[in-house]
Amino acid sequence: MQQLLIATNNQGKLKEFRDHLREFYLLGLCNFDKEIEEPIENGVSFAENSLIKAKYYAHATSCLTIADDSGLCVNALDGRPGIFSSRYANGDYKQAFQKLNKELEGKEDRSAYFQVVLTLYNPQNDIYKQFNGRCDGKILYQSCGTGGLGYDPLFSPHGLDMSFGECSLEEKNKYDHRKKATDKLVKYLGEIM
Ligand code: IMP
Repeated sequence: MQQLLIATNNQGKLKEFRDHLREFYLLGLCNFDKEIEEPIENGVSFAENSLIKAKYYAHATSCLTIADDSGLCVNALDGRPGIFSSRYANGDYKQAFQKLNKELEGKEDRSAYFQVVLTLYNPQNDIYKQFNGRCDGKILYQSCGTGGLGYDPLFSPHGLDMSFGECSLEEKNKYDHRKKATDKLVKYLGEIM
């Protein structure tokens, strides 16, 4: 079975990737004994940050590596928090939901989208390929459900009458940005392996 490193410490993300990439033996960063310092994500786009992480962890572990960079982009906020989604929450999503709803107060447009860029990086030859995924929807007025990860309870995708925090992973996968990008990645891996 082909081994692939998913360059994340986020167990929620790893779980989602495991669901998408069943044909591969997936490792997370937690599978390495030595602690690997985090790279500085100083890119200005999802694509740049995704590449920074994939290249860094591929060379740190010598594994064929997948890294992602993703976030929530709110149209009325000119795409914020975007690449700063994780820092916007600072580990406290309850507070982030309040902050987001405060910023959206009085604005009619609550449309938003999740975006992800996955980078597959081969440390043997420094060749990489990127895959995009996007999921459009809206920001809810209040947090709904406790499932999923990050901003899931505050986001409802077009076509689903509930939040990502309320639905099953199977249901989320019908709309999910990461699933769309991962499908492209799986297709590509099937072609080259
Ligand atoms: P990073 O890609 O690990 O840098 O962080 C992405 C940020 O966007 C995190 O704060 C996540 O919570 C958020 N995010 C990315 N994808 C999702 C998702 O599918 N649901 C909810 N939040 C997400």
